[in-house]
Amino acid sequence: MGRRDEAGLDEHTACQTGSTREHLIETYRKKAKHYDMTSRLYPVPGYPQRTQRLRTVQALGLRTGDTVIDLACGTGLNFPLLQKAVGSGGRIVGVDLTDAMLARAQDRIKANGWSNVSLVQADAAGFDFPAEVNAILSTYALTQVPECAEVIAHGTAALSAGGRWAVLDLKVPGSTPGWLAQLGTATVRPFASIDQWIMRRPWEAIRAAMQEELADLSWTELVFGTAFLAAGSRGRSVSMDTDSPSASAEVGG
Ligand SMILES: C[S@@+](CC[C@H](N)C(=O)[O-])C[C@H]1O[C@@H](n2cnc3c(N)ncnc32)[C@H](O)[C@@H]1O
Repeated sequence: MGRRDEAGLDEHTACQTGSTREHLIETYRKKAKHYDMTSRLYPVPGYPQRTQRLRTVQALGLRTGDTVIDLACGTGLNFPLLQKAVGSGGRIVGVDLTDAMLARAQDRIKANGWSNVSLVQADAAGFDFPAEVNAILSTYALTQVPECAEVIAHGTAALSAGGRWAVLDLKVPGSTPGWLAQLGTATVRPFASIDQWIMRRPWEAIRAAMQEELADLSWTELVFGTAFLAAGSRGRSVSMDTDSPSASAEVGG
């Protein structure tokens, strides 16, 4: 498991986000052991989480042999679906901030005998994406990352032309009064401030960033607007000037 440091944050921000990160890591360290079991109740018992994961992986349009990054992968609940899509000739890279969640992911890899899955302990905000990946997904995690818009941009830059990004996460339905949203999310966001999460409306930042970065964004609200699936492709580069082979521009975005 590699380890990368947070990068690109100024001292003030690093200090502020540092304590939030530590709190988050502590929270997930406590959750890791029983996460696979308790996540079935997430955000409420009976929530169609498995169906949503399946839709997200399908939205990536993966092919045999592809390389896919599962950002904030947790214990690797998406790995079986990804594995089925890319096959043993493909590659899966799981990235997460919390060591204990990655340890459970490592158990899953070992139990299944997968040799094409690697794990990286890193902050999504400073993650150095490998170049030319075919797809990136993040499920139930990216709204926790304050720098989510930058993460979308960094990820897009690492995608091969036509490569796909998909984000699945919870949100507050548009018409929900503030107090009800707070009550509803209190159960699912036990770390950091629920108020801040609601006020920040990170799903809007994710949508705007994906709209900006990707050629063909699709945005689907799920379960009465309590979750969203956003997916799109990196535009293809085309030559702008035949005299200058290096000049190129993105199509779409
Ligand atoms: C609710 S769990 C979701 C895990 C997994 N994606 C899933 O669908 O089951 C959130 C995960 O996001 C990770 N996480 C939160 N903030 C992160 C960050 N800034 N960088 C990397 N991982 C982060 C946590 O460690 C945790 O494993």
